[in-house]
Amino acid sequence: MKLTLRIWRQHGPRTPGRLVDYPVEISPDASFLEMLDVLNERLTREGEEPVAFDHDCREGICGMCSLVIDGTPHGPEKATTTCQLHMRKFSDGETITVEPWRARAFPVVKDLVVDRSAFDTIIRAGGYITAPTGTAPEAHSIPVPKPDADDAFQAAECIGCGACVAACPNGSAMLFTAAKVTHLGLLPQGQPERYSRVVAMLEAHDELGFGGCTNTGECTAACPKEIPQDVIGRLNADFLRAARKHR
Ligand code: FES
Repeated sequence: MKLTLRIWRQHGPRTPGRLVDYPVEISPDASFLEMLDVLNERLTREGEEPVAFDHDCREGICGMCSLVIDGTPHGPEKATTTCQLHMRKFSDGETITVEPWRARAFPVVKDLVVDRSAFDTIIRAGGYITAPTGTAPEAHSIPVPKPDADDAFQAAECIGCGACVAACPNGSAMLFTAAKVTHLGLLPQGQPERYSRVVAMLEAHDELGFGGCTNTGECTAACPKEIPQDVIGRLNADFLRAARKHR
C-alpha cells in the first residue's frame, strides 16, 4: 500500500518543529513501527536524519512506544499500543499524521520522542512497598480476596506509556497515578503506606505540571490496557481518608 506519512520533525527541545511529508510504500502486514524502520533505512541511505521515535519490547508490554496517530494516542485501534498496530488498519492512499505526545509535563526531546521521566518521579514519591528483604514468602501465606486480586491485577496492567496524559485535555496523569495507587492499595502488602502513598504521589503529580482530572474519560478511552476510570474514584476516596486521618 502507498501512504503519505506527515511526521513531526523537531531537532531538539528548544527548536521549533514542523510536519514533514514522506511518501512510503509498505506491506499491509507491517506494523506501524516497522514502517518507520523502513522509512528510516531509506532516509539514512539518502543521507537524511532518521526520524527519532521511542520503542523497546514491540510486544505491547513496556510502554515505550508513544505516537499520536491522526490525533489519537496509539492510533485508531482500541486497546492497542503503537507497536501492535498494523498497517492493514489503514487505507491505501491515506495520509497519516504522526506526532509526539503533547503535554506540558512531557517535553519533546527530538522528533517523536518525549521526556516521560515525570512518571518516574511520581513512582519515586510512593509507587512502591517497603518490605524487609529475605527469601520470597510462600505465595499463599497472605490470602487476598478474589475481587481485590482481580482489581489489583487490572490496575497493574498499566504500562506507563502516557497515552492517558496525551489524550487528556488537561494533560492530567490521574489515570496513571490512580492505577499505581489502586494496584498497591488493594493488596495487604500495600496497606502500611496506603495513605502516605496517595498524598505523596498526588503532590508529585501536581508539582510536575500535570493538570487536574475533570472526568472527561479520554484517558480510559486512549489507554491501550483499558484501565478503567474507577481507579480514579479509588484514588480520590483514599485521598479523602488520608486527609481525615491527618486532620
Ligand atoms: S514498544 Fe513496548 S509497548 Fe510498544
